[in-house]
Amino acid sequence: MAFLADRLAAVKPSPTLVITARAGALKREGHDVIALSAGEPDFDTPAHIGAAGKAAIDAGKTRYTAPDGIVELKEAIARKFKRENDLEYGLNQIIVGTGGKQVLFNALLATLNPGDEVLIPAPYWVSYPDIVELCGAKPVILPCPAEQGFKLTAAALNAAIKPKTKWLIFNSPSNPTGAGYSAAELKLLTDVLLAHPHVWILTDDMYEHIAFPGFEFVTPAQVEPRLIDRTLTLNGVSKAYAMTGWRIGYAGGPKALIDAMRMVQGQSTTNPSSISQWAAVAALDGPQDYIAESCAAFLRRRNLVVAALNAIKGIDCPLPEGAFYVYPSIAGLIGKRTPAGVEIATDEDFVRELLEATGVAVVHGAAFGLSPHFRVSYAAADEVLADACARIAKFCKDLA
Ligand SMILES: Cc1ncc(COP(=O)(O)O)c(C=O)c1O
Repeated sequence: MAFLADRLAAVKPSPTLVITARAGALKREGHDVIALSAGEPDFDTPAHIGAAGKAAIDAGKTRYTAPDGIVELKEAIARKFKRENDLEYGLNQIIVGTGGKQVLFNALLATLNPGDEVLIPAPYWVSYPDIVELCGAKPVILPCPAEQGFKLTAAALNAAIKPKTKWLIFNSPSNPTGAGYSAAELKLLTDVLLAHPHVWILTDDMYEHIAFPGFEFVTPAQVEPRLIDRTLTLNGVSKAYAMTGWRIGYAGGPKALIDAMRMVQGQSTTNPSSISQWAAVAALDGPQDYIAESCAAFLRRRNLVVAALNAIKGIDCPLPEGAFYVYPSIAGLIGKRTPAGVEIATDEDFVRELLEATGVAVVHGAAFGLSPHFRVSYAAADEVLADACARIAKFCKDLA
């Protein structure tokens, strides 16, 4: 009898965490490493948010909370949904979890049966298919190549919907491409979904606030309010307020779904950290200057990285609408060899050889379901990014 559960067979360790760990190991060995593989802002959590966490400790707010979160945070989330997304969620339609990842996990564990299908546009955030697999259901990957702006078309969505389709996972701006759907583009998808009442929408709005000029963030239930009864609107404070380590995510959705998710959470982590929840209240209700400041820095860095990568022969880097990633194609480099004679046959070969030769850690496109690409997380200082791009340029120039 095998010791490990069968359900683990289809699950892989998160490739972004694996590469980040490899970069960390090389660094400890003394190599000059630039890790652009992790998906987190490089800024510190704003001081007033940290202070709220410290104040919560000092005030003894250090006990278990309700599994779905403290009322004060759920009220702040309801205000946020109203203020920023024009969505009305009652407190019994909101749940707080230990990061958006746990909220996503709770939603899928609470709803998926064996044989259920979940539509996932690719490139996708690495965790979506694996969480679906862990829940015993089937991820159905919908390729969205660069020629389509990495976006799902209405025709492709319509063709993919089957009687067993339970969810569409939607993510804009996207990790890993930074592609963001305009209201008009999203409306084409919500029109398709309106015609298929058995399909639910899990919209991952984690990068809502990292949106660049010319792109205006919208969320599905805002664009098509008739979908509100089958939409789970997922968000969190990790990316918006540089709070990845605090582990607070949240969602608004129909009460019956939120009830089921609360039950799952009550039997796993009980509740997200009380201290982090109070810090998240300060994030959502407090001054919002950090968002504009960080966005300005990300915009500058996006422009720097896109220009530097597009100057490299063999690399083609689309301009993202949001988030802090670029997802360039390396189609022009496939088949070339490193000076040591190693063939770059795949994007995985590319990122491995790049890391070993230059110390720059990026993530291969195959991990996100669309090759041959690689993802750069440009949440790093300008001079670090310039150095990384110069190293990538040299590496590519040396390929023959
Ligand atoms: C698209 C997307 N969704 C959700 C998450 C989860 O964020 P967290 O669990 O920190 O809230 C991430 C983190 O990388 C992400 O990129």
